[in-house]
Amino acid sequence: MTEQTVGKCGPIGVFDSGYGGLTIFDKMRKLMPQYDYFYLGDNARAPYGSRSFDVVYEFTRQSVRQLYEMGCPLVILACNTASAKALRTIQQVDIPKWDPSFRVLGVIRPTVEHVGMLTSSRHVGLLGTVGTIQSESYPIEFAKLFPDVVVAGEACPMWVPLVENSEFASDGADYFVKKYTDSLLSKDPEIDTIVLGCTHYPLLLPKIEKYVPYTINVVSQGDIVAASLQDYLHRHTELESHLSKGGICSFFTTESEEKFRRSASVFLKEDVNVKHVKLG
Ligand code: DGL
Repeated sequence: MTEQTVGKCGPIGVFDSGYGGLTIFDKMRKLMPQYDYFYLGDNARAPYGSRSFDVVYEFTRQSVRQLYEMGCPLVILACNTASAKALRTIQQVDIPKWDPSFRVLGVIRPTVEHVGMLTSSRHVGLLGTVGTIQSESYPIEFAKLFPDVVVAGEACPMWVPLVENSEFASDGADYFVKKYTDSLLSKDPEIDTIVLGCTHYPLLLPKIEKYVPYTINVVSQGDIVAASLQDYLHRHTELESHLSKGGICSFFTTESEEKFRRSASVFLKEDVNVKHVKLG
């Protein structure tokens, strides 16, 4: 560790481009309420979904660095787009320079580990942002762990804006939910499991279930990522011992505090205290 963090304990950092990561954070704090958490939403620059590899990497790197400087020994990228486009470079290039004991984990690997055990037909559907689908990160990870699984993907560029603007329950959302789910299912009639490969999408789940046959399992990532992290911390006691345990959750946004407070309360069904941070 650097001098700054030697011997110190700190919170688990949770990062997303916006509010979507709150669906992961919420499951993590329910499963592991003993830890402190810092949630950072880069709301001023969301959505990341259609941005280039270089831009997503740079924005994610700045956000992770911010959480590191705020004292987090571990950061979870609660964002598929950032996990797909930035995680590997941060792990391989940045962390060795910053502090080799610092850890950053993503959401794709635990999701694939779970879904590969779940599907019976071995045909999986993936709904995600343009960036996640184009990166091919899911098919690549499935090919490593479950080479018999066939993955069909559908990019849903209108879904994150619907969620970020609190329109996920509106009548207008139905059009875009039906459009993308119909298109996915037409690609492979043998799909028995659909992964919501974007942390914003659980907010659209009631509408997604309306347009997907009930025989198909629709999988959200929150519980999967929380359980996988709990298991990881059991196996990495050195890291676990550097996590502070006060049960306190703090929120940070690159947008206005008032806007974050209003929207986060919709996701979490409670009021939150939030502070503005400036990145870059
Ligand atoms: N929640 C992010 C994800 O899981 C959303 C992406 C965005 O900002 O477009 O991919």
